[in-house]
Amino acid sequence: MCGIVGYTGPKEARAILIDGLKKLEYRGYDSAGVALQHDGLLEIHKAAGSVADLEKTLVDNSNAVNVGIGHTRWATHGRPTDENAHPHCSCCKEIALVHNGIIENHQTLRKWLAEEADHKFSSETDTEVLVHLIEEYYEGDLLESVRKAVARIEGSFALVVVSSREPGRLVCARQDSPLIIGLGDGENLVASDIPALLAHTRKTKVLEDGDFASITSEGVEISDAEGKLLDKEIFEITWDIEAAEKGGYDHFMLKEIMEQPAAVKETLRQRIDTASGKVNLSELNFTTEELTSLEKIHIVACGTAYHAGILGKAVIEKIAKVSVEVDVASEFRYREPLLTENQLLIVISQSGETADTLAALRLARQKGLKVLAITNVVGSSVSREADEVFYTWAGPEIAVASTKAYLTQLIALYLFALYLAETRGRIDSAVYDELVSGLKALPGHIKTVLSEENLAKLHTYCDHLSRWDSAFFVGRNLDYPVAMEGALKLKEISYIHAEAYAAGELKHGPLALIVEGIPVIALITQKAVSDKTLSNIQEVNARGGAVFAITREGFDEIASQVESVFYLPPANDILAPVLSVVPTQLIAYYAALARGSSVDKPRNLAKSVTVE
Ligand code: M6R
Repeated sequence: MCGIVGYTGPKEARAILIDGLKKLEYRGYDSAGVALQHDGLLEIHKAAGSVADLEKTLVDNSNAVNVGIGHTRWATHGRPTDENAHPHCSCCKEIALVHNGIIENHQTLRKWLAEEADHKFSSETDTEVLVHLIEEYYEGDLLESVRKAVARIEGSFALVVVSSREPGRLVCARQDSPLIIGLGDGENLVASDIPALLAHTRKTKVLEDGDFASITSEGVEISDAEGKLLDKEIFEITWDIEAAEKGGYDHFMLKEIMEQPAAVKETLRQRIDTASGKVNLSELNFTTEELTSLEKIHIVACGTAYHAGILGKAVIEKIAKVSVEVDVASEFRYREPLLTENQLLIVISQSGETADTLAALRLARQKGLKVLAITNVVGSSVSREADEVFYTWAGPEIAVASTKAYLTQLIALYLFALYLAETRGRIDSAVYDELVSGLKALPGHIKTVLSEENLAKLHTYCDHLSRWDSAFFVGRNLDYPVAMEGALKLKEISYIHAEAYAAGELKHGPLALIVEGIPVIALITQKAVSDKTLSNIQEVNARGGAVFAITREGFDEIASQVESVFYLPPANDILAPVLSVVPTQLIAYYAALARGSSVDKPRNLAKSVTVE
């Protein structure tokens, strides 16, 4: 995720670009930059940090600037530095480009451009190859050179290009990343998302995959890869600015829940080899010897990431047969864990800045352990200090309550478990293949869970739940960590006191709290223990508890034994938690709405906890 904006028209472009980038900062906020076209040249400003930091570099307004492009970055390839910030420039400094997406074959292209065509690179990014390719093909028509360059690219992109040789013109292309053109009066704009356009126009044309556009202040021409002009409908925006920043959703949390199919797909992308069907984690530099001699894994994290870790333990032990210990980071150091060199520490942190998690990482490194970080933020402290990094490509998570980051952490752990199991020769090939195809099917299944019919069902259930000040989540085996995560989410944003129990533990104390009507959310997706969980549910029923079961298709005997039931699409036992957590996120969301609490910024909490 990154934010792109472009302007051509009679107005002062600096202010329009900066304002547009601020509206898009939710898409990325680690560095920003602009390319301003004036007097037959391009003036580039870039800065690590926020758009406000970039704005401070634009103090000289002596040149009138009416055309420019801007970018706010969410780092993928290369750390968040001034050099890696966009726009990137051609060697001759006559072409500048901003890009959102990933160029998968950038290494091959970079080698070719450097060795065969003598191009000089000045950043670590995948994007930079694109601008050099465009320069290589440039013969007087920017659009033509962009077409030729794009034909050589594998991956996803939304890009806007400007050249000092073609005053007033912006050229765009799109594949798998959004790009919207704003149609003004004597001016035109382009942006990754509607918020950057709304102050100027409500008339838009949405680019689709494979589209190219040439934009000047007088007009917009959209064409395909062969140059055939395309007639696009004008789409009139009816949202207000605040709603637009959230993509039309009322809250970032809901938007992020709805983004989960895409986030999971992105995290899987390039990590399962299409030809061989094998997990490919060549981004990690573990030797076979390191993985085969591993005696133990420690997983350390906080909050939601800790719950991902508990699930990760179960999955790694089940399929890779390596013993795993999981700790909350704030406890890890103080229990004096027995750390030795043949162990691996995995830290999980969305932000990569959580102080307790960082402290655990430092302790383990001191003791000679190798550290693998699973994080969502490129260039974060955790990513810099760990030996190996597995990035979850969830995109920026703004809501304090973590949703899409959690799902992608699970995906990271499944992929790592499969990779470890295969390297150690501990997995049956049929089981391996079934899990890989199950992983690939997840984005589609998550979409099904998020259908309007399902959302309506969960919303209705929360009318009952939100009247209570207390609730229980129960589950066995892999359902138990999901119950823990469901309870945390409900507490965090609806302020309903929620407890998670391993279903078999109810009778050892908590059953005393079951009274007529109390909400009990039961997770039942694990075949081997579903009968046992059902027995525990009977114990709740007998005391008047109101059970809402989250189960999967095929578990037909459950419906008649609970007050209401929510069905998930079919899934392998091991992968089912990726689906079953989604309704619990929505339950928390709708309960918070019903109780009028602040969904995106719950009281007393912060997104990134940098104190111990
Ligand atoms: O950035 P991190 O993943 O290290 O954050 C860890 C926790 O603070 C975080 O997961 C927290 O529990 C969430 N607000 C839960 O929704």
